[in-house]
Amino acid sequence: MRKNKNKRQPAKRKAASQTQNSKRPCSDSPKRTENPQLTPFEIFFKEIEKFSKLHMKDRDRVQEILQSMQKAGSKTLQVISDFDMTLTRFEYNGKRCPTCHNILERSDAISSDCKKKLQELLDKYYPIEIDSTLSVEEKLPLMVEWWTKAHELLVNQKIKKAGLAKAVKDSEAKLRDGYQYFFDHLNEHSIPLLIFSAGIGDILEEVIRQTEVFHPNVKVISNYMDFDESGVLKAFKGELIHIYNKKEGALLNTGHFQELRTRTNVLLLGDSLGDLNMADGVQDMENILKIGFLNDKVEERKQSYLDSYDIVLIKHETLGVPNAVIRFLTDSN
Ligand code: TMP
Ligand code: MG
Repeated sequence: MRKNKNKRQPAKRKAASQTQNSKRPCSDSPKRTENPQLTPFEIFFKEIEKFSKLHMKDRDRVQEILQSMQKAGSKTLQVISDFDMTLTRFEYNGKRCPTCHNILERSDAISSDCKKKLQELLDKYYPIEIDSTLSVEEKLPLMVEWWTKAHELLVNQKIKKAGLAKAVKDSEAKLRDGYQYFFDHLNEHSIPLLIFSAGIGDILEEVIRQTEVFHPNVKVISNYMDFDESGVLKAFKGELIHIYNKKEGALLNTGHFQELRTRTNVLLLGDSLGDLNMADGVQDMENILKIGFLNDKVEERKQSYLDSYDIVLIKHETLGVPNAVIRFLTDSN
């Protein structure tokens, strides 16, 4: 578990991507709609339902959850989010955006032979990750195999800690539009944000540091690299986190959830069904609102996402809906 201890961000860091336009006002930063005839709920639903890619199996249930969360107040709220393809974009200009692993894989810290091998692993295991005909039990050993093989390949590359910032800077990593409001608003309201990722913690941190949103309210649970005394990667630390063992990862971090025990309401963001377990360590949970991004294999997976997530965003690349939820919960009390 890593906590950002920086009280202030270092001045003038370069954004992970020049195209992020981090300070530009964003259409996905919700704006207050003044309409005295509408209740706050009506305003909220009007605001989120303008997103045509938003689906809810049970709108009344969403309203009920939000009502309870609003009543309890934002001091009882914590946000738990996956990173790759949830806080980051899945596609940009018709091209797939990189995951943490892809950022390293595409960088000059990796030999071309290793790039080829990592790509082969991706081609073999990613279709399994998103295959809706396989059960979690069937996928699990294969996911462990993918992560183990990929990490072995990375360790053999003698990657230097000093090269990670450049790998991220040179990459096409992109947080979803609306990220500035998302991170800043949570921080301004002292709402804890746990980023829970099966990606690579060092890379993930670098992405949010370079985009200047690694605020003090952010904590990260992820796979962290272990460097030797000369700054060369020698292993990965601790228990491996892969896409389907986030429950175990959560239960290993009881200290964090103990600290947040008064925050019994959770907003969870994910893009995989494995992400639904990220809140399993939350103590005395009262309400949880789950928002899922369905990025790929939409038709095959739509029903299972609708059954598992309260709100499903299909092939939708912004944080507009989570931002509307956060604004609703912080502005209405
Ligand atoms: P997440 O938990 O932050 O979403 O990170 C997990 C993602 O990492 C998952 O969707 C698959 C991806 N991944 C790669 O892109 N390449 C790899 O080599 C491995 C092991 C995972
Ligand atoms: Mg993900």
